[in-house]
Amino acid sequence: MSAYRVIGRSDGVAVRAYEEGDLEAYRRWLQPEQDWHRWDGPYFPKLSSSEIDERLDRFRGRIASGEYAAESPLARAVIVMDEEPDAMVGSISWHWESEESDWRRMGLTVYDPATRGRGVGTEALRIWTDYLFAATEVVRLDYSTWSGNSRMLGVGHRLGFVEEARFRNAREVRGARYDSVVMGVLRAEWDALPVHATLA
Ligand SMILES: CC(C)(COP(=O)(O)OP(=O)(O)OC[C@H]1O[C@@H](n2cnc3c(N)ncnc32)[C@H](O)[C@@H]1OP(=O)(O)O)[C@@H](O)C(=O)NCCC(=O)NCCS
Repeated sequence: MSAYRVIGRSDGVAVRAYEEGDLEAYRRWLQPEQDWHRWDGPYFPKLSSSEIDERLDRFRGRIASGEYAAESPLARAVIVMDEEPDAMVGSISWHWESEESDWRRMGLTVYDPATRGRGVGTEALRIWTDYLFAATEVVRLDYSTWSGNSRMLGVGHRLGFVEEARFRNAREVRGARYDSVVMGVLRAEWDALPVHATLA
């Protein structure tokens, strides 16, 4: 995978920087009928086709100009399997919850339902958490999900994240109420985790 800018690897999974060649696959995965939307923020509106075009055009421009690669840390990256580095199986990201406090929140998606439940999400979040703790001074990292998303909660529990907030009945998904759940980890807790990714 030497042509790619790899961020880290863990147990057959790699996280690498986006390439221009990923954008068509990304376009396909962003389509509103894709299954992952049912799990990833199903309470948020989906992008329309013109919004998808705009997002991809903007991203293509940032990749071409080098602006994207110059970000430190990268705000978003692609999840692939080591043996198939071209094929995007998911994406991982972070955004500011509060820049003033250096508080960053992560996001994670494994797009293809056939790839879920095989440890890919766990290894990708292990790599990304290692990467963000190494590349920044943050004292904590977290992600937000909902109580019906057992896989996303399972990933956090496996990696030593703890439930830090639960807003009861805060989310409505397909006519039922669920809790909004924030799972977080402190730097010292993460350092004590027995298994870490290999960062590039
Ligand atoms: C959530 C997601 C990122 C998890 O990644 P994944 O590769 O599927 O998860 P993993 O296989 O690494 O781990 C899943 C853990 O969840 C649990 N799990 C696995 N399959 C499950 C199932 N069918 N039902 C409920 N829980 C399940 C287990 O705790 C498992 O850990 P285990 O192997 O110790 O049993 C992925 O499923 C996904 O992208 N789903 C759609 C989009 C989404 O929900 N994104 C997150 C938004 S907050």
